[in-house]
Amino acid sequence: MPRPVELALLGAGNRGTFAYGGYARRYPHRVRFIAVAEPDAGRRERFANEHAIPPERRFDSWEALLGRPQMAEALINATMDRTHLHSTLAALGAGYDVLLEKPMATTAEDCVRLVQAAERHGRLLQICHVLRYTLFWSTLHDIVQSGRLGRVVTVTHNENVAYWHMAHSFVRGNWRSAVTSAPMILAKCCHDLDILYWILGSRVESLSSFGSLSHFVARAAPAGAPERCTDGCPAEDDCPFYAPRLYLDESLTGWPVNTISLDLSQEGRLKALREGPYGRCVYRCDNDVVDHQVINMVLEDEATIAFTMHGHSHDNVRTMRYDGTRATLRASEATHEITLYDHLTGTEETIAPGRVVGGHGGGDTGVMNAFVQAMRTPGFAALTTARASLESHLMAFAAERARIEGRVVAMRAYREEIEARALTASLGL
Ligand SMILES: NC(=O)c1ccc[n+]([C@@H]2O[C@H](COP(=O)([O-])OP(=O)(O)OC[C@H]3O[C@@H](n4cnc5c(N)ncnc54)[C@H](O)[C@@H]3O)[C@@H](O)[C@H]2O)c1
Repeated sequence: MPRPVELALLGAGNRGTFAYGGYARRYPHRVRFIAVAEPDAGRRERFANEHAIPPERRFDSWEALLGRPQMAEALINATMDRTHLHSTLAALGAGYDVLLEKPMATTAEDCVRLVQAAERHGRLLQICHVLRYTLFWSTLHDIVQSGRLGRVVTVTHNENVAYWHMAHSFVRGNWRSAVTSAPMILAKCCHDLDILYWILGSRVESLSSFGSLSHFVARAAPAGAPERCTDGCPAEDDCPFYAPRLYLDESLTGWPVNTISLDLSQEGRLKALREGPYGRCVYRCDNDVVDHQVINMVLEDEATIAFTMHGHSHDNVRTMRYDGTRATLRASEATHEITLYDHLTGTEETIAPGRVVGGHGGGDTGVMNAFVQAMRTPGFAALTTARASLESHLMAFAAERARIEGRVVAMRAYREEIEARALTASLGL
């Protein structure tokens, strides 16, 4: 039996601790964390203690960890979006194989730079596009790729983000601002764009996009709403985003509640709401990312995609429809069912791939299994190498350009422009 892959972790936050730390606890024969870098002392010690990491391999930044000789064969980079580029370039240069959280980086040319760096150093760089590793999405992929729909002519894909998830992540939390993290079409939808690209197997020829931040703005605040929900809000009974209702219920201990504080007692939660970002009125935050956006795409094989992302859903579920020359497919993450309607026979078949327990419907486990396999099996190519993941990122950046500049973006020219800019940046010109 092969020995466990020894790993260093950059960023012991939500993903590092729960998704990847959780995997190591469940599968100690597959991976073992032997070093951690995390500036928050509470998070660092929690992770280090859980994984029996000795004091000399606990670091307060990725810079400190990577400033030391290589200490593990691979590294997981679960820092926030804006830290990905430089920490990953340093890790690849130091000899680590890297599993990197999405989005790869926060500009299109930086994503290309990472792909080029991995290839130049001959290192594995795998991206956490977890959906490709789930039973639901791989079943959908296999159906479309089998040709049962004939040639796919048109797709509608909706990324329905629940109102509370929108408020938590994209209004109050980590991904509220394109300045400090990334545009929402990248942060949230690089997953969607990646699976569309993977399932359809064709690149986008051109796209347009519209969208805005229309609800989570000061002008939509109820009369008399204070800065924080905990300051006595006259609208608390009418507001779906009232923070005490979302975070104080002690039966809620998982995500997203576990991100507001290490102390999940009633006092710890109240303190977090009174002092931290998650108690702020959703109409009085420093957010700038959109709350709804559409992209229209035409692919190189002439198929069209109408894509909608919005943060006003009752639940976090993607819904989609594929119409082909032979059959129509409808699917939903709500029911976990994929229904096929054959145009020739008039028959209908429902396939239920089944729900898998675990983060992202089993995708968190799947991405780690693939990383371990890629580390241990010469020639094994994981589904989500940086090269494979790049296209979805370019689609997201192109969509953001289309939205902001109000124009159609031709992808072939866009790719060439970004490749050239990445080369210039890598050469330090
Ligand atoms: N694959 C997915 O489906 C998925 C889901 C959620 C988040 N993500 C991505 O995962 C990444 C992490 O998200 P998160 O929710 O865990 O965020 P987080 O804020 O909980 O964790 C990031 C951690 O990095 C630490 N950090 C900051 N500066 C550092 C430094 N110099 N060196 C080392 N660590 C440093 C922070 O203190 C924090 O603990 C993000 O890029 C996010 O977009 C991916």
